[in-house]
Amino acid sequence: MVAKGNKKTKTCRVNLMRVRKAIIPAAGMGTRMLPITRAQPKEMVPVVHKPVIQYVVEEAYYSGIRDILIITGRGKRAIEDHFDRSVHSKAEKYSEELDRILDEVNIFFVRQKEQRGLGDAVRYGESFVDEEPFALLLGDTITLPPCTRELIDIHQKYKTSIVAVEEVPADKVSMYGIVKVRELDEGVHLIDDLVEKPSVEEAPSNLAILGRYILNPEIFECIRNTKPGRKNEIQLTDAMRILNTRERMHAYVFRGRRFDIGNKMDWLKANIELAVEDEELGDGIREFIEEVMKR
Ligand code: UTP
Repeated sequence: MVAKGNKKTKTCRVNLMRVRKAIIPAAGMGTRMLPITRAQPKEMVPVVHKPVIQYVVEEAYYSGIRDILIITGRGKRAIEDHFDRSVHSKAEKYSEELDRILDEVNIFFVRQKEQRGLGDAVRYGESFVDEEPFALLLGDTITLPPCTRELIDIHQKYKTSIVAVEEVPADKVSMYGIVKVRELDEGVHLIDDLVEKPSVEEAPSNLAILGRYILNPEIFECIRNTKPGRKNEIQLTDAMRILNTRERMHAYVFRGRRFDIGNKMDWLKANIELAVEDEELGDGIREFIEEVMKR
């Protein structure tokens, strides 16, 4: 009887609540970034002024989130150190901004015991989330403007789990989780199905999952029911596929920019694009690129 009562209260909380918590998985091996990641987490590689994970924490903060759980693991201790208050006396704009954010957010850490995939990493957030809908932000991906902020607004309207997607060229669908959808509203689609890294022929669309989600807590039960898939890892897309058979899910087409820092080409492109736009470094970098191109 008591358990039933609890369940009812929790369901009400899910329906009324604005998203307040975020999980940032950052425990992956970073094989594609070797040898940079031999002794350094890929989430700590710099993009112009800041390590990637700082962009991600700032995105959560500027989306209104104040409780953040970072999933770390083997070789990832530098991430925890980065989110201590700075001991440097010299004022530096981006370090000061982080210190100010740290005054307002609680950052928790938990270690994924074995790198068994993204779905497995998310599972470690279950007690932190405590039956609330939560934001999930991949620790190696930057979105500008903050995609999570837009997802939270959409979640307020639909109360469903929402996956941010972007259109990718047909020859790239096999690199991503792809959604099959029905259009509902401008930019918001009802998900019919999800497929992890399909071949070009099998892909149901060119809408790729980009690493930002709002998930209802039912996802944890679905992860428990997910068998290891590709690379013998627990795939989050497979768990979301189960969730989609149980409740409605939406896909939101993000129109901003996404930078994937998990591979060298995109990491370098992100550095160049954001450095060119930077108020402090932009002019110098542009001149330098022009000079290099003439050689
Ligand atoms: P990736 O899919 O890029 O996996 O992870 P990876 O293992 O880090 O990279 P490669 O394939 O070896 O180069 C996407 C996000 O999920 C986290 C990663 O840290 C990254 O932020 N992740 C992945 C985990 O936290 N745990 C895992 O077991 C796998």
